[in-house]
Amino acid sequence: MLSEAKNKLLTQVGPGTPMGDYLRRYWFPIAATAEFDDKNVKPIRLLGEDLTLYKDLSGTYGLVDRHCPHRRADLSYGYVEKTGLRCNYHGWLMNETGACIEQPFEDTVNPNNRLKERCSTKAYPVRALRGLLWAYMGPQPAPELPVYEAFTWENGFVEVVTADIPCNWFQCQENSIDPVHFEWMHDNWSIRQKGQTGPYSPTHLKVAFDEFEHGFTYRRVRSDSDETSAMWTVGRVFLWPLGFYLGEHFEWRVPVDDENTLSIGWFYARVPSDRGSYVQGDVPHWKAPIRQEDGRWISSHVINQDIIAWVGQGTIADRTKENLGASDRGIAMIRNRFFDELEKVAAGAEPKGLVRDAEAAKLVELPIAERRAFLAGKPLIDYYDHPYYKKRLQDFPWHAGQPPHIRAAFCEAMGVDFNGQPLAREPAE
Ligand code: FES
Ligand SMILES: [Fe+2]
Repeated sequence: MLSEAKNKLLTQVGPGTPMGDYLRRYWFPIAATAEFDDKNVKPIRLLGEDLTLYKDLSGTYGLVDRHCPHRRADLSYGYVEKTGLRCNYHGWLMNETGACIEQPFEDTVNPNNRLKERCSTKAYPVRALRGLLWAYMGPQPAPELPVYEAFTWENGFVEVVTADIPCNWFQCQENSIDPVHFEWMHDNWSIRQKGQTGPYSPTHLKVAFDEFEHGFTYRRVRSDSDETSAMWTVGRVFLWPLGFYLGEHFEWRVPVDDENTLSIGWFYARVPSDRGSYVQGDVPHWKAPIRQEDGRWISSHVINQDIIAWVGQGTIADRTKENLGASDRGIAMIRNRFFDELEKVAAGAEPKGLVRDAEAAKLVELPIAERRAFLAGKPLIDYYDHPYYKKRLQDFPWHAGQPPHIRAAFCEAMGVDFNGQPLAREPAE
């Protein structure tokens, strides 16, 4: 149970709030690069700030204030030029640093005017990396953008999936360190949704959590393993401060404001080794639906199930009314780490896990369990021996609603048909 004041510390993200200022010290993903395949400008709200994200005709990305510094028109209706974003009202042109570089009428009637120098607008740096756009909204100098090892993997089919979640970010992120929910929310509930009443999944007997530079990992012992067995493996990763990592995929819970979260997922699938080397073109993106037609939440896929937990806790979970148990040790740990970090940073210290060294940022390794062996590749036929990879071939297991053209691209990369079966080969002569 938390006090109301502490709940606010965790959940308020606007400018000037302790958590808002804290999260602004990190790079985090804000969109997919593929969102700019068919447009140049996108309105976006992040950490309670209304902004405009654009890609100019030279391919430079910018993230600037939503409102023009002239008379406050909405820059998300502006149009891009070779350099920068032009306001559609009187044509002022802003670049990615926020500088106002043209004021057409002022420049005509008074070419020596100094007005431009006073009219810069708010702007944040944006970088593209492995299909994602990343922003840094904090004080300069910005830390390095970490290149996680998975972003360097080749021979994979990558897709980015986003979803708009109508609740506070912190309850989504608490789910990143909650091992027991796998058993009930994913395993057992899925069994029940299939109309079966059992047998239920092996039950959790022990959980353990370990902190490391970039977050926390958690391990477990279930009733189908003993303590010396492989079940005490490297576990799931709570990626500090707002991510989750599981071998082949990342999830980030990006605060839009106190009541909304942008869920961003990055998913890699190794192409079978017998397909030879594979080079993917642009990383595709799709937006996942979260509601059924009748207004109830979609419950068929893993992250959809998680989303039901998140939104079900209320728009901003009231932690003054909860009762934590032994299953929630990880949650208590990360809350305490955040409280300590907020104090530390307020006192002028560096936040946890920032990467300042440019060389180190080029390859940031995270704990991975059995995935590393898999990444060396294996023939398609072996995929059918592994419950996860078999399922991965049959359907995208994380979110409902994968568009058919992305399913088709995935199947083509993997060499399977829409049912996940190997494509028939030419019969040998
Ligand atoms: S309001 Fe943007 S140019 Fe006038
Ligand atoms: Fe989950």
